[in-house]
Amino acid sequence: MTKSSRSKVLVTGGAGFIGRHLVARLVGAGTDVVVIDNMKRGSRDKLAKYVEQGRVQIVEDDIRRAEALNAAAAGCEVIYHLAAQSNVMGASDDPTYSITTNVVGTVNVLAAAALAGVKSVVFTSSREVYGEPPELPVGEDRPHLPKNLYGASKVAGEAYCRAFAATKGLRVDIVRLANVYGPGDSGRVIPLWLSAAQAGEDLKVFGGGQVIDFLWVGMAVDALLRATELGVPAPLNIGSGVGTSILDLATRILQVTGSKSRVVRMPSRDVEVAKFIADTTRMRAFGLVPEADPLQHLAEIAPSYAPHRG
Ligand SMILES: NC(=O)c1ccc[n+]([C@@H]2O[C@H](COP(=O)([O-])OP(=O)(O)OC[C@H]3O[C@@H](n4cnc5c(N)ncnc54)[C@H](O)[C@@H]3O)[C@@H](O)[C@H]2O)c1
Repeated sequence: MTKSSRSKVLVTGGAGFIGRHLVARLVGAGTDVVVIDNMKRGSRDKLAKYVEQGRVQIVEDDIRRAEALNAAAAGCEVIYHLAAQSNVMGASDDPTYSITTNVVGTVNVLAAAALAGVKSVVFTSSREVYGEPPELPVGEDRPHLPKNLYGASKVAGEAYCRAFAATKGLRVDIVRLANVYGPGDSGRVIPLWLSAAQAGEDLKVFGGGQVIDFLWVGMAVDALLRATELGVPAPLNIGSGVGTSILDLATRILQVTGSKSRVVRMPSRDVEVAKFIADTTRMRAFGLVPEADPLQHLAEIAPSYAPHRG
């Protein structure tokens, strides 16, 4: 296949954790990829081999700059929109960055998609749109009651997706991810604890009553790729459908690493949602069947979070 006959897509935030896994899968499936990423949390190095092969073009720029996005989107069939202030604490610490990136940036992405005439946009939303749900598991029809700025920014992003779909004829598919883990992540509980456990440091538990729906990154990528088949506007929960208590996670991490680290209780953090389990009925109907044990990949990724020795 010649380069010009391959399809081309844009991945915003493609140098980030989930983005890099998505880019690898797209390239493996014969698609050329343009990545736009401001490298706030991204890594250019991990995409270097694809750049050398001429399969990935990295545009180091900001989705808040419409001109940059419009240029990056030209000639692309699909936009996978992942660029974001991607975590609850970060959004709380810097509301302006989270609103300008997650809301204004998303509007820029949708406008660029309309201008470029792309076939579809996939928006990575979050389980945080539901806030603290009164009952579990949580279905897609539950109300949007975000508890924190990050969740609020994703609700706004979804609203603009629907508005662009309705008024511009843009096809937009919304995927609400649970808590994704896998190799290459940083700053979230699983990477932090795998590193701490292997360094003999304490595992700090904020609160202790949390129940989290952990999702393997491979399933998140499957869902993003399948989303283009869903139809407008079809929010889809992507989770394991299994709740893991935060204290059970600590125990599993100590088991898989053989660590004797202490588990230390800290005060809970008010902005965090305590409990979430996704209702996976709808994703299963689309052939996305989660693994029975959501934490089954912990042992395989633990070495990648081991502290450097020597
Ligand atoms: N990881 C999860 O558990 C999870 C759960 C639910 C939803 N999501 C959503 O999935 C998407 C990807 O998450 P992730 O875990 O890969 O996050 P990540 O932070 O690793 O990746 C996001 C990428 O976006 C880039 N970025 C941030 N602001 C930007 C801006 N203004 N312009 C251009 N690029 C910018 C960052 O540099 C980073 O590379 C995000 O939209 C996130 O909100 C993630």
